[in-house]
Amino acid sequence: MSVIDKIYFRSSTEELRSILQDKKVFIIIDKQVEKLYGSLFPFQKVFIDASEETKNLATVQSVIDQLMKMGADRDCFLLGIGGGIITDLTCFVASVYRRGVKYALIPTTLLAQVDAAIGGKTGINNAGFKNIIGLFNKPEFVYVCSHFLRTLDEKNMLSGAAEMLKIGIIGDSTLYKKAVAWFKENHLMDYDTKEDLESLILRAAKYKCKIVEKDFHEHGPRKVLNLGHTFAHAIEKCSPVPVSHGNAVSVGIIMAARIGEKMGKTNPKVTNALVADFTAIGLPTATTIDIRTLMEAISKDQRHADGTVDFVIPEKIGSVSIKRIDIDQLRTLAFSI
Ligand SMILES: NC(=O)c1ccc[n+]([C@@H]2O[C@H](COP(=O)([O-])OP(=O)(O)OC[C@H]3O[C@@H](n4cnc5c(N)ncnc54)[C@H](O)[C@@H]3O)[C@@H](O)[C@H]2O)c1
Repeated sequence: MSVIDKIYFRSSTEELRSILQDKKVFIIIDKQVEKLYGSLFPFQKVFIDASEETKNLATVQSVIDQLMKMGADRDCFLLGIGGGIITDLTCFVASVYRRGVKYALIPTTLLAQVDAAIGGKTGINNAGFKNIIGLFNKPEFVYVCSHFLRTLDEKNMLSGAAEMLKIGIIGDSTLYKKAVAWFKENHLMDYDTKEDLESLILRAAKYKCKIVEKDFHEHGPRKVLNLGHTFAHAIEKCSPVPVSHGNAVSVGIIMAARIGEKMGKTNPKVTNALVADFTAIGLPTATTIDIRTLMEAISKDQRHADGTVDFVIPEKIGSVSIKRIDIDQLRTLAFSI
């Protein structure tokens, strides 16, 4: 069954009532989102303090304990409402609770609307490593609604911008250009800018679905979505201060382009264009964390048993390639950028 036909793209929450009727709904919701939008969802709820520190097995255990106390049986329907932390946690809990129950997602950050909630993939953190435990399991539906973005702050809008631009760089140069133009002018969504942003979200989410449909379990083509993530995960792990996922991805994409240059695959003009666009938008393009530290994290976290890493190279805006590269070779290239 297709992924795309299960996604609602809407400007209001109106339709949710009819979609959810006759379901035994239990909500997993970000505490901040509950404060802003909780009254829209009159169901039993589990509240989460969303952060990378809480996207772990202890929280999964706590959510399961609470669902059991609330009497959520095998016919329950879990609804995750929040950003990527909540959508990842909900997918994970729904996949293991009572050997799997039905679930749906209402992503409330831009990042989750264009990326995290799309494609039925989850990862949770363990022992300081990002998304080290996870699985693939499609939701019943995803309800993408711009209404929630009215309250999203600049930092989180930009974090979402990075993942949207990533999708454009992978395969849709028009999306990339339009997104750059929108984010150069806007960092927040308001009434006048809503429609343009909605069409960008729709375009990005649809493109992601197209990739996911080819390779749901990420054995091959889906790996392109990891563009920028080799270094992003290491940056998130090693940063002494919390860094947003999108900011880490932004730096990771530029590092991948610079490494692509050294491999003779990326034209320096492409890297320069990316740096200029990201800078104009307000996204970071470099990190102060040293390469040795980052490579150590990559080596522990993302290396295959044979000592290689699948590295995604942005060759052009709208075209990437995946290269299985030896970790020592990647280290040498990273030191040379
Ligand atoms: N599974 C996947 O395919 C996938 C893809 C990309 C990212 N991710 C994961 O997503 C996570 C990042 O997601 P995120 O950036 O959405 O982070 P998040 O869930 O922490 O949300 C960011 C912040 O926004 C707040 N927030 C959420 N909705 C809001 C709203 N409508 N108004 C105001 N504030 C709101 C939250 O309280 C939080 O403080 C990372 O853990 C990343 O690994 C997963």
